[in-house]
Amino acid sequence: MRISGNTKIVGLFGYPVSHTLSPLIQNAAFRECGLNFVYLPFSIEPSYLEQATMAIRALNITGVNVTIPYKESIVKYLDELSSEAKAIGAVNTVFNSNGKLIGYNTDGKGFIESLKRREISLQNKQIFLIGAGGAALSISFSLIKEGINRLILTNRTYSKAEDLFNKLKKSAPPTVKLELIEFEKRNFFSEKENIDILINATSLGMHKDDPSPVDLENFPSSTYVYDVVYNEDTQLLKKARGKGMKCQNGVDMLVYQAGFAFEIWTGRKAPIDKMKEIIGRYFKKI
Ligand SMILES: NC(=O)c1ccc[n+]([C@@H]2O[C@H](COP(=O)([O-])OP(=O)(O)OC[C@H]3O[C@@H](n4cnc5c(N)ncnc54)[C@H](OP(=O)(O)O)[C@@H]3O)[C@@H](O)[C@H]2O)c1
Repeated sequence: MRISGNTKIVGLFGYPVSHTLSPLIQNAAFRECGLNFVYLPFSIEPSYLEQATMAIRALNITGVNVTIPYKESIVKYLDELSSEAKAIGAVNTVFNSNGKLIGYNTDGKGFIESLKRREISLQNKQIFLIGAGGAALSISFSLIKEGINRLILTNRTYSKAEDLFNKLKKSAPPTVKLELIEFEKRNFFSEKENIDILINATSLGMHKDDPSPVDLENFPSSTYVYDVVYNEDTQLLKKARGKGMKCQNGVDMLVYQAGFAFEIWTGRKAPIDKMKEIIGRYFKKI
């Protein structure tokens, strides 16, 4: 990578950012496309978020990704939001369009794309979603636009699941049945045998010894299991494979959401295969 006077700067706003894989993926993509861009991590203390956002304009930064804990709190400093970001109320990508800061959310789109590429249809499907944090928020708002039949939500902190349920109710088409169950009932509710897709959108699985967020007993082996956590070997995925269920982890979602951000900043098609290759190599090494 050769930095010159014309290098365009993009990066990541978060706190902390030391765990991020985005510089690896995005810088590889820029190199692959011969683009004079560089992607940098910015660890921003909470009291500096407003100043840091203003600096995007002041420093003529092309754009940034936004991660925990700023996806919602950055919204008030932006000039415009995409329709998805507006509905979700959270942003993971900012584009500096000649001084106008526009917020997008590519997480949910990345999730949907990762299923479509595996030819997993969402039409008329019954879906069980565990979690009510940032990932669950983006995923659920994208799901309700995909012709699903039913979305059952649960979360350890019930009030957060309720908040998500109430937000979704305002945006969901009348054809989507929305339901909420208590976390304690996640292993026992009677509709388990009808679930087509089960999604773990909690952070359980990020650490080696984390338990599975749900017991897979009584889910039919036809249920597709999606763990948004990047690890290949979460307890949930191990159990799913053990039962012969089809499943995937969060790596493809990570790549596709990054690809959509790349396209917003550069106006070019993202080199998805290259991005997958780089991330695949990274996970083989660790
Ligand atoms: N693949 C991708 O591209 C992608 C994108 C975004 C996020 N992710 C991954 O998705 C996961 C969630 O991220 P996020 O941004 O949604 O985080 P977040 O906003 O902090 O939400 C965390 C969620 O996990 C739940 N949780 C945490 N510890 C738990 C436990 N011990 N038992 C049960 N539930 C627990 C929380 O429940 P409470 O509400 O009860 O605390 C909440 O629902 C992370 O692993 C992240 O790396 C992946």
